[in-house]
Amino acid sequence: MSNKIRLGILGGGGDSLIGVLHRIASSMYDRYQLVGGVFNPDFEANKAFAEKIGLSTERVYEDFELLISEELKLPKEERMQVISVLTPNFLHFPMAKKLLENGFNVICEKPLTTTYEEARSLHETLKLANTVFAVTYTYTGYPMTRQMRDMIANGVIGKVQKIDAQYYQGWINPIIHDEEKRSTTWRLNPEKSGISCCIGDIGTHAFDMLEYVSGERIDAVLADLNYLYEDNKMDIDGTVLLRTSNGVKGVICASQIATGEENNFTVMVYGDKAGLKWEQENPNYLYLLEDGHPLRVLKPGHDYNSEISLDGTKMPPGHPEGIFDAMGNIYKGVAKAISGEPYDHGEYPTIVDGVRGMSFIEKAVESHKKGNVWIKIDEL
Ligand SMILES: NC(=O)c1ccc[n+]([C@@H]2O[C@H](COP(=O)([O-])OP(=O)(O)OC[C@H]3O[C@@H](n4cnc5c(N)ncnc54)[C@H](O)[C@@H]3O)[C@@H](O)[C@H]2O)c1
Repeated sequence: MSNKIRLGILGGGGDSLIGVLHRIASSMYDRYQLVGGVFNPDFEANKAFAEKIGLSTERVYEDFELLISEELKLPKEERMQVISVLTPNFLHFPMAKKLLENGFNVICEKPLTTTYEEARSLHETLKLANTVFAVTYTYTGYPMTRQMRDMIANGVIGKVQKIDAQYYQGWINPIIHDEEKRSTTWRLNPEKSGISCCIGDIGTHAFDMLEYVSGERIDAVLADLNYLYEDNKMDIDGTVLLRTSNGVKGVICASQIATGEENNFTVMVYGDKAGLKWEQENPNYLYLLEDGHPLRVLKPGHDYNSEISLDGTKMPPGHPEGIFDAMGNIYKGVAKAISGEPYDHGEYPTIVDGVRGMSFIEKAVESHKKGNVWIKIDEL
């Protein structure tokens, strides 16, 4: 029998954006075997998709509750060990909660839930379950964001004095101006998405990434969000000023109406000795900026890279590492945790990162609604 970790997937069907990323990522280091799931709410489409990807339909279930009850009937050594939750946001909480209550390890897409209260409840459930729980803030898996984190922790840029992230997309521009088209995306529906679209969908990535690479803890936000139309209930653009517990100031600029932009996510951390800049659309380059020195560009796979960066680099220098590799590295970290192997705590984002992300979303919306005032992020 295979010693691979038995993986189930909820959501992520053939009609989804993110499913293929998780399936490829899980297979990347030969640590997981996909054994079943619920890829789609329609059972026929669900089975058809399983057949299309060459998966036996034996453990493809009608819904997640049936998946749990049927899997529990199997002997432990055959049962799914970890389930990835890749559905629209509103299903993360009920699915993840029931999985935890029944002893499964969980890999959950971001944002963790649709409310902070749900996120806290999930955290409490996890404490009792004592299983592995990862939240897939994908960008923390790139070799060069991991390199950035280690260089900052090792003092290469000196004392951090400014944090800055820009996440610009333009995909909502053709949708937002047409009332009918807005209903074509669940991301603009508060019942499925939560109270925020832009800050919830991509602002959370920026928040998590700034904390991940800088080591700072953001403890207050002041937000100015943009809804464009009065009958649109969901923000589609926003600027959020930040203050960290160490008194460092910063900003997150996020937009889904930056017309023509694709996935332009840039993270910058400046210290009193140097600065580091990373761009998602060119993820193999990490820029080191320093007074009196020419710009230096660091790349993956070299002796100068840190251990965690090299651990997530599969090919010799010059072979680009992309988003599939980044997610693969997160899956690898989770595999180590499930198997009881040693791992660096930066190898996968945890439920604490997910809960903090939910606090960020709620406080940013609250700040905007109260007239752009400073609001504290809940500590965890
Ligand atoms: N980490 C990242 O960078 C990243 C990128 C994109 C999306 N996401 C997150 O991934 C999640 C999914 O986003 P998406 O863009 O793939 O959405 P999507 O709408 O493209 O796909 C959702 C999938 O879930 C399935 N689904 C819906 N209801 C279901 C149910 N009851 N049971 C089983 N399957 C069900 C749908 O059939 C579909 O296959 C969201 O939470 C989103 O925020 C994360």
